[in-house]
Amino acid sequence: MARQVEIWNNRAEIASRALLLCQLAYNEAIAKNDRFTIVAAGGSTPRVLYELLATKEWEWSKVHVFWGDERYVPVSDPQSNEGMTRKAWLDLVAIPASNIHAIPTDPTDPAIAANQYEQHIQEFFGVASGEIPQFDLILLGMGDDGHTASLFPHTKALKVSDRLVTVGEKDGQPRITMTAPLINQAKEIVFMVDGAAKAKALTAVLAPKGDVNLYPSRLITGNTIWLCDRTAKV
Ligand code: 6PG
Repeated sequence: MARQVEIWNNRAEIASRALLLCQLAYNEAIAKNDRFTIVAAGGSTPRVLYELLATKEWEWSKVHVFWGDERYVPVSDPQSNEGMTRKAWLDLVAIPASNIHAIPTDPTDPAIAANQYEQHIQEFFGVASGEIPQFDLILLGMGDDGHTASLFPHTKALKVSDRLVTVGEKDGQPRITMTAPLINQAKEIVFMVDGAAKAKALTAVLAPKGDVNLYPSRLITGNTIWLCDRTAKV
C-alpha cells in the first residue's frame, strides 16, 4: 500500500495539514456513504488538531468517532484518551452521543472490554467475525519507542492477527488497542509525529528493513501519510 512522508516545521503545521486531510476524507466519505468514520489517536500531539476540528461546520450527525486505543482508566482520569478528545473537540460540537464510540474501561477484566469493543465495531459495520471493516480515516501518533496506538515493543498485542481489538500493555498497565490488521484496513491512515525525541524511532520505522517487535509502528503498512516535524525527521 502507499506511503507518503511529509516534513512540516512544527506541531501547528502538522495539525493544519492533518485538518485538511480530515476534511478531504470527510468530503469523500459523506459523498460516497453519507457518513464519516474516524478513529482518534491518543497522547498529546493530536490535541491541536482536535481543537481545529471543533471549529468545523460539519454534519456532525453523520460523523462517527472511535478510538484506536485507550488507557484502562475512567474517562474522568487525566490519562484518558477519550477524556482529552472530548475536552478538545467532541464537547464543543453537536455530535450525537450515540456517534461517540468510546472504548469501555469499566469491566474488571480488560479482555472483556476488548471483546466488547470488537463486537461493537462488528455490529456497527455489519461484519461477521473474521471480517475486517474499513474505517474512512485512522489518526495515529508514535511514541519515542516506535509504538503506535497501544502496540508497544515486545508485547503480545503485536502478534494478534485474528482480532480487531486486543489488550495491550505498557509498563505492566493494561491498555485496549485496535490491532494492526484493523488499522491497516483503513481507507487512509495519518500519523502525526513531532519532536526530536522521536527521530531515532522514526528513522527505524521508515527504514526499508527493521524489527516490528522493536519498532511496532512498522506493522502499519496500509495507505499511510506520515506528517513529521523537522526535528523528528533526521
Ligand atoms: C496513547 C496513544 C499513543 C500516542 C503516542 C504518541 O494512548 O498514548 O495512543 O500511541 O499516540 O504515545 O503520544 P504523544 O502524541 O503524546 O507523543
